[in-house]
Amino acid sequence: MSKLFAPVQLTTPQGPGLKLRNRTVLAPMCQYSVTNRDGVPHAWHLSHLGARAAGGFGLVITEAAAITAQGRISDHDAGIWNDTQTHAWAPIVDFIHSQGAAAGIQLAHAGAKASTYAWLPQAAADGKVGSISAQDGGWETTGPSETDVFGLVSPAAMSVEQIKVSIQDWADAARRADEAGFDLVQLHGAHGYLIHQFLSPLTNTRTDEYGGSYENRTRYAREVIGAVRAAWPDHKPLAIRFSGDDWVEGGWRIEDTARFAAEAYALGVTAFDLSSAGIGKYYGPTGPGFQVPLATAVKHAVPDAFVTAVGMINDASQAEQVLVMGAADGVSIGRAALKNPNWPAAAAAELGAAQDEVPFAAQYWRAHW
Ligand SMILES: Cc1cc2nc3c(=O)[nH]c(=O)nc-3n(C[C@H](O)[C@H](O)[C@H](O)COP(=O)(O)O)c2cc1C
Repeated sequence: MSKLFAPVQLTTPQGPGLKLRNRTVLAPMCQYSVTNRDGVPHAWHLSHLGARAAGGFGLVITEAAAITAQGRISDHDAGIWNDTQTHAWAPIVDFIHSQGAAAGIQLAHAGAKASTYAWLPQAAADGKVGSISAQDGGWETTGPSETDVFGLVSPAAMSVEQIKVSIQDWADAARRADEAGFDLVQLHGAHGYLIHQFLSPLTNTRTDEYGGSYENRTRYAREVIGAVRAAWPDHKPLAIRFSGDDWVEGGWRIEDTARFAAEAYALGVTAFDLSSAGIGKYYGPTGPGFQVPLATAVKHAVPDAFVTAVGMINDASQAEQVLVMGAADGVSIGRAALKNPNWPAAAAAELGAAQDEVPFAAQYWRAHW
């Protein structure tokens, strides 16, 4: 059997926990489809996530789900800050389960990068990019510090009191995610959003206990992890996605990520996904598997965790090679899975799985992988 399709069991503070049928993970991807602007997921989310569960993913992770209305990247984002949203996620989770996949939710707060137009072709054609104008319903954003790094309307710097409220928001969202039936929570700590804004010296210029030294810049993330871990059941794994490196001189670097991953692991995070960048201009590498070395660095720091690599891992043998070489424990697939929801089934067949081992919906068996 290929390594990619070997099942894996994630650890939790209570010991061995969630079992995945294979090591393919659907990367979180914003759908910008909540046209009602109420954060409630609907038929599109069921169809999008459901198709990829039926297509064989071991773990299906939702798009960035906002923990508060203010924390949405755009007004078309899905959320999990109220009961209506929680109840709307539940049947989506049930369907993912019915297809043999595990269901993860990415909890997110965009901080200084909130209140932007949805990344949709029509919005771009209409010149609606960047911060949402006041007449279009833009809202005030907050972050660790005022910053113009993103070329957006500057956020207000959060007071310590607002930080404490925000930490509780993460915990409340995790509790709702459990109510909805999710198996795994992934904290969005990447791409220049709120947690990453606290970590990176490029966006965190605070002089209080939440800024300055490494110890202080990581405090918010540590407190979020602590609060979420307390609200999220001990038998369920908690994950985090990092930007492993800002790829900017003077920014958050992979050495910081590896160090912090070990601290996060000690606080009960047992799954890590390694993306990069999101703050400032992009100076990093690109190309097939360009972020794999970031996952490997974290794997060395937290050998007992489930560490996944992401980024331009597009075909089966490339994904298999990442695992064969011990560079990561699994792979997250983004755009390739937008093109082909059956990416895992196709990959399994390509890697030599027998007909009855290909993870695929029974209704489609006559397609004969
Ligand atoms: C349409 C789209 C939406 C995305 N939304 C998110 C998101 O909600 N959260 C996140 O962490 N990354 C998001 N990403 C990044 C992907 O999860 C992934 O890291 C990136 O696309 C690189 O992987 P790939 O080369 O396999 O596509 C998004 C990417 C795309 C293409």
